[in-house]
Amino acid sequence: MIQEIPAQELHEERFIAEKVKALQETVADGCAINALSGGVDSSTVTMLGHQALGDRLKTYFIENGLMRQGEAQKVVQLFAELGVIVEVVDARDEFLAALKGVIDPEEKREAVTQTFYNKVFGRLVRQSGVKYLLQGTILTDVDETVAGIKRQHNVFEQLGIDPKEAFGYHILEPLVQLRKDGVRKVGRALGLPAELFSRIPFPGPALAARIIGEVTAERLDTVRNATAIVEDLLKDTQTFQYMAILHQDRVTGIHEGKREYGQQIEIRCWDSLDARTAQPTNLPFDLLTKLAQEIIANVSGVVSVTYNITSKPPSTIEAI
Ligand code: XMP
Repeated sequence: MIQEIPAQELHEERFIAEKVKALQETVADGCAINALSGGVDSSTVTMLGHQALGDRLKTYFIENGLMRQGEAQKVVQLFAELGVIVEVVDARDEFLAALKGVIDPEEKREAVTQTFYNKVFGRLVRQSGVKYLLQGTILTDVDETVAGIKRQHNVFEQLGIDPKEAFGYHILEPLVQLRKDGVRKVGRALGLPAELFSRIPFPGPALAARIIGEVTAERLDTVRNATAIVEDLLKDTQTFQYMAILHQDRVTGIHEGKREYGQQIEIRCWDSLDARTAQPTNLPFDLLTKLAQEIIANVSGVVSVTYNITSKPPSTIEAI
């Protein structure tokens, strides 16, 4: 049973000191590795790990081809400014191969999980000889996995999976008592810039969680381009999270005077405190219209843009 620390009761400095000490004791004079995706949780755990272990923590950015535009360069640069060296591992082909032909949401999540933990990290661990993987699992990930809502790609122990047996290394999860609001407080106290600690959440399976149906390089480009537009136009809204989702169904539209059986993008924008429940943001209609115009004008093949007006539950924040 994980003892939750609600954000209002969190004493960041004390929390950091305790977790730094625990990491130092566990890893002792060994080394650990971690994957930094640039999301709030992995950025915070990276800073925590570096405070505890310094150069004995090696940080990787796994370029899985499922990330947002320019993400690898952005993350490497932001962390270089914080004194953390991030090595980029190009695993795009491996992830695309694992996702080929996969349509079922849980199978898609499982394909990302296995490629990440078994293949890519398994290899990195074998090459570097480390015993520990540090990761930013939070309580919401665990709750939803245990409740059977979604298999969050980073949750194992609570499902009876021993990472040491399954993958050959131990997983350390210092943020697992926190929810997103608590993680942001810790990230800020660890010196992350607001650009990182207040960043909107982004899921572990990345853009694969936002493609309904098969994930292909072309469909990734479509959702990536739409995501860039949505993130740019909604960045000043002070909402919890916003995203573009690519649907599997096609719809009839008109393109340059001709009928086009095209693609459909769904926009979601959420008000939420901790992702457990969420409400669609009441965005001004003018802004919604602008989003549609920009997506239609700049994302080829898209002929329809919709806005989600369903709360979580029964919706979930991501599409798969
Ligand atoms: P859902 O879609 O389950 O999302 O309502 C709740 C929150 O969690 C994020 N999310 C994930 N985060 N690994 C993560 O680290 C995952 O597999 C994952 N799936 C969803 C989602 O973006 C939202 O903020």
